[in-house]
Amino acid sequence: MRTTTLGGQGPEAGVIGLGCMGMTHSYDMAAPRDDATSVSVIHQALDLGMTLIDTADAYGPYTNEELVGRALTGGHRDRAVLATKVGLITDSVQSANPGSTSPGAARHGRPEHVRESIDGSLRRLGTDHVDLYQLHRVDPQVPLEETWGAMAETVAAGKARHIGLSEATVEEVRRAQAVHPVTSVQSELSLWTRDALAEVLPYCQQQGIAFLQFSPLGRGFLTGRFASFDDLPQDDFRRRLPRFQQNALRANLAIVGRVRQVADRVGATPAQVALAWVLAQGEHVVPIPGTKTPKYLADNAGAADVQLSAADLAELDALPAPQGTRY
Ligand SMILES: NC(=O)c1ccc[n+]([C@@H]2O[C@H](COP(=O)([O-])OP(=O)(O)OC[C@H]3O[C@@H](n4cnc5c(N)ncnc54)[C@H](OP(=O)(O)O)[C@@H]3O)[C@@H](O)[C@H]2O)c1
Repeated sequence: MRTTTLGGQGPEAGVIGLGCMGMTHSYDMAAPRDDATSVSVIHQALDLGMTLIDTADAYGPYTNEELVGRALTGGHRDRAVLATKVGLITDSVQSANPGSTSPGAARHGRPEHVRESIDGSLRRLGTDHVDLYQLHRVDPQVPLEETWGAMAETVAAGKARHIGLSEATVEEVRRAQAVHPVTSVQSELSLWTRDALAEVLPYCQQQGIAFLQFSPLGRGFLTGRFASFDDLPQDDFRRRLPRFQQNALRANLAIVGRVRQVADRVGATPAQVALAWVLAQGEHVVPIPGTKTPKYLADNAGAADVQLSAADLAELDALPAPQGTRY
């Protein structure tokens, strides 16, 4: 797979990465976990050149980093561009951190939290450094300069090679840049979530900051897998999202139908077309589709070779807006 340099001076990574969240978190939580297959999917990704492996301490919590750490033993660590995140805590992590300031699923940007969390992440990941340490969310209760200063300390300490933000505004990226270079911004971008195209993505392009697109397959919807609310697994986070409610989902199938038409015309799958569209949004973009399924991983890797013409891109640009908000 062709590669790109993250953030100008960052590591070289395949232009499509792998999001590991769904291997232990959010989706299909009632089904038994199949860690052996997940580990083999991570190895398959590395073999195919999808070297950016994305996780977070909040996924599980912790179980996702543990799984990724297990997958990267036995010489695989050096083949990966390992990216994790800090600063978003779920209830169970929060109860272990009684000093936390925010209620519910919380943003947690206090510098001491960053300083402590990196060590836990490194332990679970079985490594002495991560290649990219990302602030999962900016905490409005803590000046970003303080959080980002602590993120920069992880670089100075050799525990992270580079640092990035997630779901940040241009203003927040600018403030962070004034403290320490921002290697990447990770935000949702897909055929049905295009907000980042207005400001954040152009700003990243202009600054040479890598843009990592999360949920590039619309959490699986754009692949055509879900024809009805009942197709969603029990105990699946998507059952709570507005776009997946029965009426909205039915309306949103029109989007998938049009993606499928383009896919049939270019001889690709809908997932590949969705990924080829996000890849076409710029030079510094790296989508991180999530999967725990070998055949989907292979399908997603193939998207790097799908050529969309100007007419295909125009047709996809003109897709109707989805019904329902993101969250
Ligand atoms: N920074 C943030 O706040 C944030 C938020 C959300 C996600 N993320 C990151 O972004 C990554 C990807 O996002 P995501 O997992 O939410 O959404 P996604 O990549 O848009 O979609 C994942 C879903 O699509 C399915 N899928 C993947 N490839 C497929 C294919 N070729 N054909 C059919 N189905 C396919 C997966 O199935 P299986 O799992 O069953 O294989 C899974 O259900 C996450 O893993 C995580 O690392 C970050």
